[in-house]
Amino acid sequence: MNDLGLVIRPMALSDLDRVCEIERNLFAAPWSRTSFEDEVAGGATSASWVVERAGRVIAFMVSWVVADELHIGNLAVDPAMQSGGVATALLEHSLEDAARRGVALAILEVRMSNRKARGLYEKFGFSEAAVRRGYYSDDGEDALVMLRTVGEENEA
Ligand SMILES: CC(C)(COP(=O)(O)OP(=O)(O)OC[C@H]1O[C@@H](n2cnc3c(N)ncnc32)[C@H](O)[C@@H]1OP(=O)(O)O)[C@@H](O)C(=O)NCCC(=O)NCCS
Repeated sequence: MNDLGLVIRPMALSDLDRVCEIERNLFAAPWSRTSFEDEVAGGATSASWVVERAGRVIAFMVSWVVADELHIGNLAVDPAMQSGGVATALLEHSLEDAARRGVALAILEVRMSNRKARGLYEKFGFSEAAVRRGYYSDDGEDALVMLRTVGEENEA
């Protein structure tokens, strides 16, 4: 348990009711339960986490380790628990785990309009690498591709 009373552990099938609930509350085009099931079953490449506080899942991250890259695919914090450092703790944990696995580069896409997530990633030293025009199929919004190196300094 960390200073904020958070427990961060690998995502399990038994977490998916709650993970899908958080996902549906936050995203207009939520991932399906099957997508999360595939991640939990993903084996060695999968790096998916949940955050618990007082025994309840309040946040999650889905990512993959491919060669020496960490691809972050999904990150969400229960709306009632946002702005309290939960995503910061989760991202820190994920980058430390990635460093232990020999990852050299972390990569993600974020909606251009998502100021809060962009602020979080900038705080962690991610920089803007490219724009994917019309990337999001629900509304055609552009995605910003962000990158950072991993392994030498993972502190926020
Ligand atoms: C983005 C999200 C994961 C952040 O989670 P969180 O637990 O609220 O984040 P934290 O409290 O750890 O940290 C927030 C950091 O984001 C940044 N941030 C917060 N609010 C911000 C704002 N209004 N503008 C810019 N940056 C902001 C700051 O860097 C902040 O760090 P600080 O508190 O040290 O200044 C959460 O808001 C969320 O689940 N959003 C909906 C889903 C989503 O957009 N996921 C990301 C998909 S790429």
